[in-house]
Parts: sequence; C-alpha cells; structure tokens
Amino acid sequence: MADASQLEADLEALLQQEWFEPPADFVRDALITDLSVHEAAERDPVGWWEEQARALDWAQPWTRGLVDDDAPFYRWFEGGKLNLSHNCLDRHVAAGLGERVALHWHGEEGEIRTITYAQLLADVERCANALKARGVGAGDVVGIYLPMIPEVVVAMLACARIGAPHNVVFGGFSAESVHERMAFSNASALITVDGARRKGRTAPVKSEVDRVMDGLTHLETILVVRHTGVACEMRDGRDLWWDEALAAAAPECPAEPFDSEHPLFILYSSGSTAKPKGIQHTTGGYLTGIAWSFKHVFDLKPETDVYFCPADVGWITGHSYIVYGPLANGATSVMYEGAPDYPNQGIWWELCERYGVTIFYTAPTAIRACMKWGAELVQEHDLSKLRLLGSVGEPINPKAWAWYWLVVGGGRCPIVDTWWQTETGQMVITTLPGAQRMKPGSAGTPLPGMRASVVDEEGREVQRDTQGLLTLDRPWPGMLRTLYREPDRYVSGYWERFGAPTYLVGDASRQDHDGYFWVIGRVDDVINVSGHRLSTAEVESALVSHPKVAEAAVVGQSDEDTGQAICAFVTLRDEVTGDDAMALDLRDHVAHRIGKLARPKRIIWAGELPKTRSGKIMRRLLKDIAEGREIGDVTTLRDPDVMGQLTQAMRGRGDED
Ligand code: PRX
Repeated sequence: MADASQLEADLEALLQQEWFEPPADFVRDALITDLSVHEAAERDPVGWWEEQARALDWAQPWTRGLVDDDAPFYRWFEGGKLNLSHNCLDRHVAAGLGERVALHWHGEEGEIRTITYAQLLADVERCANALKARGVGAGDVVGIYLPMIPEVVVAMLACARIGAPHNVVFGGFSAESVHERMAFSNASALITVDGARRKGRTAPVKSEVDRVMDGLTHLETILVVRHTGVACEMRDGRDLWWDEALAAAAPECPAEPFDSEHPLFILYSSGSTAKPKGIQHTTGGYLTGIAWSFKHVFDLKPETDVYFCPADVGWITGHSYIVYGPLANGATSVMYEGAPDYPNQGIWWELCERYGVTIFYTAPTAIRACMKWGAELVQEHDLSKLRLLGSVGEPINPKAWAWYWLVVGGGRCPIVDTWWQTETGQMVITTLPGAQRMKPGSAGTPLPGMRASVVDEEGREVQRDTQGLLTLDRPWPGMLRTLYREPDRYVSGYWERFGAPTYLVGDASRQDHDGYFWVIGRVDDVINVSGHRLSTAEVESALVSHPKVAEAAVVGQSDEDTGQAICAFVTLRDEVTGDDAMALDLRDHVAHRIGKLARPKRIIWAGELPKTRSGKIMRRLLKDIAEGREIGDVTTLRDPDVMGQLTQAMRGRGDED
C-alpha cells in the first residue's frame, strides 16, 4: 500500500460510503447467504432454538424447550441432560478429530505449545479427577485466577466436566478483587499460578493471593500452576502444585450428564453499585447459544479455519468465544499470552501470518491502538489467509472500522460488529457476514430468534432514528439465569422496569430507517474503558478507602483511545489540591484495590463536590464538566459556586501520562 497520505485519502473515501456489501468471494462459500434463517426463526423462535440445540450431544433429550412459568427465571431445554466438556472434547475425539489442533498457544517470549483435542481431553480428565480428589463436586464453586496459558482452558473444562461452576477472575484484577469474588461466591477451591509474565517482567501471583486469602474458611484447596518459577509458599493441606496433582490423578474421568439448567459459571461484572454482580449462566441453553452463534456469525469451517481472539478469558468474550464456542465447534484457535505491544507492536499480525489465521476478533480500542502504531506494522505481514473480522465490546467509530476493513482485511473480509453483554452470554445484535450488508458504526440487526427494541422511559417503542433505551423482548437460550445469591437484584436490575419478557439492557441506542441498531453506550453508572466494564461506585469506593481522601465522585469521559476514560473528582481531607505525587498515590491505590484498568486517567481536585440540598452528589453536572459541555441546570445545588471552582480546577487538572 502507498504512503500515509494515500491511506488517509482511501479511508476518507471509505467513510463516504454508508453501506458495504459482503464481498462476493466470501458469499460464495458462506454458510448463510440470505435472511431465510431469520424468517424461519421468527415463525417459531423456541422451536428454532430447539433445532439448533440438536446439533449438540444430549445424554437425555429435553421435554420442554422453554419454560417461562416462573419468568424472569426462565429455563431452557427442561429435562435435558448433557455434559459441556463432553460436547467440547469427547465427541470430537470420538469422531476421529483427536489429532486436530485445538490451541496454538504462543507465549510472551515466543514459546510454542501445540495442543490437540486428544491432549486437551486427557488434561481435562486428570484435572477433573484432581479436583474430585480434593472433594470438589457438582455445585461447588471453583475460582480461577490465571493468565492466558492453556491451563486456564483445562481448568474451566475440568470444572464443567464435574459440574463445579467456575468463577474466573480476570488476571489483571488485584488479589483483593480475587478475595472479594471468592468470598461472595463461597468458592471451595482456587486455581492460580506461581507468577505471571507481562511485557518481559514477572509478577508474583500466588504470594499476592496468599496475602489476602486468609479468613476464607470455605476455601480448602489452592491448585498452583508452575509457570514462571517465582518462589511461593505452599501451605500444607491446602496448596497443591498443578503438575503434581494432575500426575497423581487417575487418567479417566467419565463425563457425567448434568441438567440443562445446571449452573456452569458465575462471572462477576460491574453494575451500578460498588458490589459486582455475580452473573450466572447455565449449561444447555448457554452452549446452544454460543455454539450456534460462533459457527454462523464467524462462518466457521472447522477443517480449514484458524481463529484468533486476543481477549482475555477473564471476560465473557473469553468464556464464550475463546473457550466454549470454538471448542464446541471443533475449531482450531490461536491463544496469545502477552500484551498487544509485546515483544513488539506487530505481534498480532506476526501471529496471524505464522498460524494462518482466517478469523480475527478484537475490540475497537485495540484497533485504534493499532492505527496509532501505524499501518506498516500490519502491512509487513502476509495476512492473505484472513477472511473475516469481528469487533466487540464498545461501539466502533467509522474511522476505526474503515481502517480495520482496509488495512487489516485488505477490503476482502466482512466485519461483524457484535453487540452483546456478560448477561446475554452470546452475541445478540450483529450482521451475518454472508447475508447482510454492513454499515460502519452499526452492529446490525438481532440474530435469528432474537428481538430487540428501542423504547422511551415508559417502555413505548420510539420512532425510527430516535434515541432511547435498548431492550431485548424475548428470552434467548444463552441469557443469564440469575445473579448469584441475589435473585431480587436480578429481578430489579433487568426486569422490573418494563416487566418480563422485556429485558432492560442498560444501553442507549437508536434503530435507523433500515432497522439497523446503533448502540450509543451505557445509561447507568457503568463506564466502558477499552471495552471493559467498571462501575463508578466501585472506583469511588476504592478512592475513599485511601486515608487522605474525604470524598470522591467518578464519571466516564469520552476518550479517543479507550472509548471512555475514568475521571475522578476528589476532595482531600487536609488539603484543597493534591500534587502529582498524590495523584500517583491515588491511582496506585485504586490499581491495588481493583486492578490497573480502574486507575483514573484524570484526577480533579475538588474543594467541594456539587450536591443537592439533601446531600446527593450530582454526577450529571460533573459529567458536563468532564465533557467540556455547557453546564446543565444548577438550581437544585446547595452551593452553585462549586461549579465555577470545579471548571477552574478542570483546566489545571493532573492527567496520567
Ligand atoms: O454497552 C455495551 C457494550 O459493552 C456492554 C457489555 O459489556 P460486557 O458485559 O463487559 O461485555 C462486553 C463483551 C461482550 C454493553 O452493554 N458493547 C458490547 N459490544 C458492543 C457494545 N457497544 C457497542 N457495540 C458493540 N458491538
């Protein structure tokens, strides 16, 4: 490709185009090429999902597809029994695919591990037996706090095999977050690692975990993967080395069938309060939803495709579309341990070339970072095998879309912009790549069997091209079933507003005259940083736990790189303004409490926060300041002068480098 100015001109030209047709070469071999599947599903959504569920191996067939007697506590495929790990492993091995590569794992320093389906099954059976030997059984929650190494996949599947719901904590979260999540979920075992590698450095993990894990009386086992060789203590009777435990375990662990509604996992995600929500998914419906969507949205040909999603398994994207979706379909994936810019900013493209990646799935933030690093880093590599690109996690701005299309996809790969959530479990709104045209910036339309609307505050559908609240209007198999141990919060958070079956998403959206959905962003107190959810309350509570902080209010602020950034207004106990050292101290404190991702990008020293006469902080006004907008109505403020002071402070703010 020509120079940078030519690229700019080409991108500009693409930005003039409203629609993009699926490329003819792609359509020729696509699994779905028209909308008849949407029409079939629309005629009988439950029956249609039942048909998709039949693609899985069931040990016992279901008697009812969907049970809604107790809505919003929906049940899918009632009476059916299956084992998820059997569906991801044993059935492929039995079909003669044992030698197919499940994972091409690539370590930070270039190490390679090639793991076939047969090997993965063998490890999963031993790991399942090792857990059983420690008394872990069906219904016992197992925490998983691991970096992107193959053992994380083994651990998740081993839990699924024995019916022990897993609770994966993102490796970038702090040990304190692990403690909190283990406590909330009453985990009986934790699977972790001696240390993790990040950009050439090694950080201790097990010793960090030990620092905070006391007091969890129900946590009886810690299984430790030897990965970096960082020294750590092993407590007698509780801690076991992964390799030793697996070697000592029996090699065979038959996959026991579980009820379709048996809990598969809990994944904590941010909500409107400081306490994360334990989003709970179950087995049969979830597997049906992700297996179908992985195959058809990514147009998978398992014999020839190589799939790469460089997200982390600690997020729902990793659960559904790094682990379960690909394995349920017998796909071959690339798994990368490291950061996108280590050992260099071209590593993803190097991996795409080396492993012949055909399907690539990432977040807009990552695409924007790659844009900054320069097109040359992509163009240095042979990406001719790529045939489909995906985006997830936040709205994709048209410029990033055009760059992805042109520079990465060479103008021949459809882009699927997939809208979904931890709660939905599976993709919900996207185009099907061989059947639907793309509009940069719009996710598209609901998948077959799904229904979405944009409504006003009263739940009435708004006119086309009008912004409103996004709702999903009928149950779908991959949906969350409840919030772990908080069924009331499940009902009040998602269903009370408009009444089941209308699910309140928490996003603002509009639907255009062609029926395409344009998701705008969250309407609640959730901030989306680089496609990752954080609650304002969670960050505020971390800030005020610092001894020098009297009060803090956090808002999301538009950010060119990360979509949204965390902007914190902080009132100190003894001083009116802090200095750079204080700001750094606060950022580190938040990183320590929650994780690096939650570090406020911007800290504004506030002598006082804008409050109503009843003492409620008016975040709406803080958001106006952060966004540099005209300040809204201040008449209800106790002290309107505060706003002038804060606007001043905003000008003299201290940003993170
Ligand atoms: O606001 C939407 C945004 O991410 C939120 C869900 O976050 P989480 O549960 O962490 O799951 C992220 C990965 C599935 C949504 O409420 N979001 C996700 N995908 C998109 C998106 N916003 C716009 N376009 C998307 N494709």
